[in-house]
Amino acid sequence: MPRAKAMSSSRAEAPPSALQPARILFSGIKPPHPDCATKIYQELHEFEEFQLSDNSHRPSSFEDKIHGFTQLLTYESLAKLVYLHAALMETLRPFPAIPLNFKLAVTDDVLPSGAVVKRGSTVSYVLYCMASVESIWGSDASQFRPERWRRDGAWDFSVSPFKFTAFQAGPRICFGKDSAFLQMKITAALLCRFFEFQLVSGQILTYRVMDTISLVNGVKVTISNCT
Ligand code: HEM
Repeated sequence: MPRAKAMSSSRAEAPPSALQPARILFSGIKPPHPDCATKIYQELHEFEEFQLSDNSHRPSSFEDKIHGFTQLLTYESLAKLVYLHAALMETLRPFPAIPLNFKLAVTDDVLPSGAVVKRGSTVSYVLYCMASVESIWGSDASQFRPERWRRDGAWDFSVSPFKFTAFQAGPRICFGKDSAFLQMKITAALLCRFFEFQLVSGQILTYRVMDTISLVNGVKVTISNCT
């Protein structure tokens, strides 16, 4: 598959939750998805205005604004950042931090497809490729589209973990899924609220895969303050 061919194998360094905010900013959104970036910035500005009451002290220095914004990020308030949540889901879908996985059968088994798996066999699956399979995600499978997480006019993130497999499913499902979303949202919210990122043009972004996914040469970006 083309997506798999784009990957080479060598070691990756960063833990999964550390990678995703960087990916959403650098490889998922800009410049191919400026509308998505604009919606994230807009949601963050509206969030800040909503959380600050009319009487709230409005700091003037950049550092104080950052400090003030961090005070608004609570477990409850972060739940309001639904577009950011959708963008993170849509980033993890094609770029799962753990892009492929192997399981060893400890007894003879039969897969739902009817395929027989003998004890001692290894079954592997490649989440990275599954994201572009149209029978799973529809004809727009290859597109980065946070709006796919809307149903009947409302955001709906209640997808089966056997379909959205970034955290796996079943008894070994990631215990830290909610914590990971909290960490990703806090980091992405702070970065997107106070900085603008532009990809340096002319780069060839090549993914590499070991236990986690990363970029062979990193990503060059220019960063400017955003008040
Ligand atoms: C975007 C971030 C994350 C992703 C994509 C992710 C994904 C995964 C995946 C795919 C597995 C299954 C691995 C396997 O069985 O081969 C897993 C397991 C696990 N994860 Fe995460 N993870 C993330 C963040 C976290 C965080 C922040 C924590 C802790 C706070 C955490 C705790 C765990 C634990 C304890 C397991 C082992 C569960 C078990 O084997 O019973 N993860 N994770």
